[in-house]
Amino acid sequence: MANYKYNVLVCGGTGCHASQSETIIGNFKKLLTDKNLDNDVQVVSTGCFGFCEKGPIVKILPDNTFYVSVKPGDVDEIIAEHIVKGRKVERLLYIDPKTNEHKEDSKHIGFYKKQLRIALRNCGFINPESIDEYIARDGYAALAKVLEQNDPQATIDVIKKSGLRGRGGGGFPTGLKWEIASKNKADQKYMICNADEGDPGAFMDRSILEGDPHSVIEAMAIGGFCIGATKGLVYIRAEYPLAIKRLKTAIAQSREYGLLGKNIMGSGFDFDIDLRYGAGAFVCGEETALIHSMEGKRGEPTFKPPFPAQEGYLKKPSNVNNVETFANIPVIINKGWEWFSAIGTEKSKGTKVFALAGQINNVGLIEVPMGITLREVIYEIGGGIKNGKQFKAVQTGGPSGGCLTEKFLDTPIDYDNLIAAGSMMGSGGMIVMDETSCMVSVAKFYLEFTVEESCGKCSPCRIGNKRLFEILQKITQGKGTMEDLDLLKNLSKVIKDTALCGLGQTSPNPVLSTIDNFWDEYLAHVMDKKCPAGQCKALKRYIIETEECIGCTACARSCPVGAIKGEKKMPHEINQDICIKCGACYEKCKFNAISIK
Ligand SMILES: Cc1cc2nc3c(=O)[nH]c(=O)nc-3n(C[C@H](O)[C@H](O)[C@H](O)COP(=O)(O)O)c2cc1C
Ligand code: SF4
Ligand code: SF4
Ligand code: SF4
Ligand code: FES
Repeated sequence: MANYKYNVLVCGGTGCHASQSETIIGNFKKLLTDKNLDNDVQVVSTGCFGFCEKGPIVKILPDNTFYVSVKPGDVDEIIAEHIVKGRKVERLLYIDPKTNEHKEDSKHIGFYKKQLRIALRNCGFINPESIDEYIARDGYAALAKVLEQNDPQATIDVIKKSGLRGRGGGGFPTGLKWEIASKNKADQKYMICNADEGDPGAFMDRSILEGDPHSVIEAMAIGGFCIGATKGLVYIRAEYPLAIKRLKTAIAQSREYGLLGKNIMGSGFDFDIDLRYGAGAFVCGEETALIHSMEGKRGEPTFKPPFPAQEGYLKKPSNVNNVETFANIPVIINKGWEWFSAIGTEKSKGTKVFALAGQINNVGLIEVPMGITLREVIYEIGGGIKNGKQFKAVQTGGPSGGCLTEKFLDTPIDYDNLIAAGSMMGSGGMIVMDETSCMVSVAKFYLEFTVEESCGKCSPCRIGNKRLFEILQKITQGKGTMEDLDLLKNLSKVIKDTALCGLGQTSPNPVLSTIDNFWDEYLAHVMDKKCPAGQCKALKRYIIETEECIGCTACARSCPVGAIKGEKKMPHEINQDICIKCGACYEKCKFNAISIK
């Protein structure tokens, strides 16, 4: 990038892509050429910057100016003002909602202040389709070091000492996993990357592959060398077209540069990578199901042992790691295990990427050091709860996780603390809920997902989860009993203890954690037939307040079932037996005479 006067980095991640970032890039290129500035200014399409809430993002180097919510029509002004006259376009800078100050550089924006980007180090900095840009930021230096040292166990020891644990959910120590796979003798072994990412709302792995595919390729080659595998496979969902495109481009470039293929860097080590596509089943993220799916079989899990390291793809020893786990590897080798293990908590080292979503001001992709508190993530990085509402719960761990309340906000985030609190790290989904969320409905939402995604192989999951879902449905319809609550608890425990794979073993977690933390809310639904958050339609009652009603008749005319009666200029009344709770009258009344109880 050094030869250009300015580098214009435009986010090419899926979120910004959907908000016309391609057109923004096209406009920059065309206008710069028209103005004969194309030799002075380079335009680069990067991976996600993380701050998707404010996308499309345009960053200008060398002055680090960070423009937010840029539209194709803004390009002219950015070139005329910033590039030509060196004056920043104030109206496109981020405005701090607390101080109302314009922030020129992303490092002064609250969203970024407490973040530490290791796995995402290159996302938003380089053109993911340029191997040269990756190499310019130490890319493939770790592979060169490992191959030159030619001591797989020494590299495994570095990963072991770094304390890196698998980012795919389980948190298994990566170095130990590699060591086990390295010790199994076989004529062929496989290094597999799990890029299935099936959690609803998660996009950590997709963003890494879209923004920095070479980091995963380099790490897979290092891992392959360590365990004695010459073949790598990336299992990626077909719904990730941009990530697939960038990965394919990166693999082709690595082959061209001799960084994949035969005799890599003259070391005698052969390694190449192929892609396998998933059809989007959540269970196919589970490693044994993933391997079966890659073999062309039904994506169903099998009991472990045997573990993939013993009998994996095509019955050969295989090592499965998550995308984010891989993305950490080259930096650990380049900077040393001491550096990495100094970040985080005693048993959870390094950082974790989260997809921050829900009722929060700053939705996006964040990477934070382990040990940061939920409060820091929600209020400092996330900018607090939307529309000034009250925080109610945060859901971590995706469909297998749990909902944590206010009392856990100061808990340092790590694998063990989240489990102790009744949730889990999972692969990095983090959904924040405000006071308007009904926690019984939240549990029902996740159960509906797991019922849909269960492969059906074992009865506790196939039948048990369906029954759990039906009980939750009954409760939200106001038909639940105290016996149902007992049944929910008992059945959840049985499913956890008896299901075959991780999907079933964790699927009751949203139910159990909401029962633990929001028992009153369950009781209100069952005993009082009320939804405290006012979300369960069947439990809503629309009432006309006699004193407020002026008898304008607007509500009666809007009611689709004729449930409202009353004389003109006289208070009206709703017949609760007929009302279908559509809310039309509530919307229509201009006198705030209708309330929801
Ligand atoms: C139902 C289910 C879905 C899973 N989905 C994923 C996934 O999408 N991505 C992933 O990396 N791991 C997923 N896992 C965990 C994998 O089985 C496996 O532990 C992981 O890929 C290992 O990589 P790691 O050690 O680097 O975390 C899932 C597990 C279960 C039980
Ligand atoms: S627990 Fe569910 S997803 Fe796992 S094997 Fe049993 S039925 Fe299939
Ligand atoms: S719209 Fe409001 S004020 Fe008018 S009749 Fe209905 S409840 Fe009364
Ligand atoms: S909620 Fe719908 S059905 Fe019920 S009274 Fe109002 S308009 Fe009629
Ligand atoms: S996709 Fe552009 S900032 Fe995330």
